[in-house]
Amino acid sequence: MSSKKRNWKPQTALVHSGTLRSGFGETSEAMYLTQGYVYQTAQAAEARFKGEEPGFIYSRYANPTVDMFEKRMCALEGAEDARATASGMAAVTAALLCSVKAGDHIVAARALFGSCRWVVETLAPRYGIEATLVDGTDITNWEKAVRPNTKLFFLESPTNPTLEVVDIAAVASLANSIGARLVVDNVFATPLQQKPLQLGAHIVVYSATKHIDGQGRCLGGVILSDKKWIDENLHDYFRHTGPSLSPFNAWTLLKGLETLPLRVRQQTESAGKIADFLAEQPQIARVIYPGRADHPQAEIVKKQMSGGSTLICLDVKGGKQAAFALQNALDIVLISNNLGDAKSLITHPATTTHKNLSDEARAELGIGPGTLRLSVGLEDTDDLLEDIAQALKAAK
Ligand SMILES: Cc1ncc(COP(=O)(O)O)c(C=O)c1O
Repeated sequence: MSSKKRNWKPQTALVHSGTLRSGFGETSEAMYLTQGYVYQTAQAAEARFKGEEPGFIYSRYANPTVDMFEKRMCALEGAEDARATASGMAAVTAALLCSVKAGDHIVAARALFGSCRWVVETLAPRYGIEATLVDGTDITNWEKAVRPNTKLFFLESPTNPTLEVVDIAAVASLANSIGARLVVDNVFATPLQQKPLQLGAHIVVYSATKHIDGQGRCLGGVILSDKKWIDENLHDYFRHTGPSLSPFNAWTLLKGLETLPLRVRQQTESAGKIADFLAEQPQIARVIYPGRADHPQAEIVKKQMSGGSTLICLDVKGGKQAAFALQNALDIVLISNNLGDAKSLITHPATTTHKNLSDEARAELGIGPGTLRLSVGLEDTDDLLEDIAQALKAAK
């Protein structure tokens, strides 16, 4: 079905693209919970293994339900090819490790999700891959960090949790000028609000656990790039190391994609209103929201994002005690370190997602004792505003 028409708008592509309908003509995508595949003859098995006949071989390599998810993600992202993974971290790790070898050098923005930073700072050097972390908001820092053996740039934008925005086109252009590749973790923007491949990035990764599922059910991830890079760099890694996505989770994520535009639109609209409300509260020292004119990189946001994001970063006056009091007083908004969910979630990065960083590294990223990250859900906006208002009052 997907091969008939290619110029669908995202909302249509997310309902129909990639569908592999079986002979039963099912409406909803089928869930192929199978590890292996049966061949009519020994000759057919041989031909399939030789690549002379199309078809599935083993679900560590590929599976029809996972294939549907990958094709739908390609349609959304405008990518030639994709590989789905068991989690977002499996996607990030594969994208990074398959882009470099011992002796190569990575330049990454220092504002990264804690586990991504661990992969770059701690795991990669064990295999002879050096990394330099820079303040990614200034392109001159990227330029200064380049070495003759720099092969990869890595960034997240907006960043977790302080919603720093990096100029993707500028870093991509630097990468191209030295023959390196740029990997962008696009989780916070979602595939709808930012298109890294169009901005010049070479590889895009997602934690599908977040907005793509969007209903707190399963883990997943995806890597998108050109077909040549995937064939030459990811293909064998996937076959032999097995970070594969389960068909059950792929099916859940496919259903998530159908409603992604509706959810992200509603969550972003609420987030904008909540950010404006928070910015006026005397208990709040700072609100960082990409959709506001006072965002530190507002000009870059305008250039590369088509929406303000579903996340808000805020600093509560009074440090950890005040931030904890506010979280504990919330009724609808739940305390959880996840994000992109239908349920509004709040977390204190210094003691949760970014607790493994030193105080100094946290301060560099602007994560203070009073910093909170709010992921806005699908609840009624007025109910959320009322909940936050009553919590601020109770926490005074
Ligand atoms: C920006 C970012 N990248 C990657 C990940 C990892 O995703 P997962 O939890 O699906 O492994 C997360 C998870 O919080 C994230 O926020």
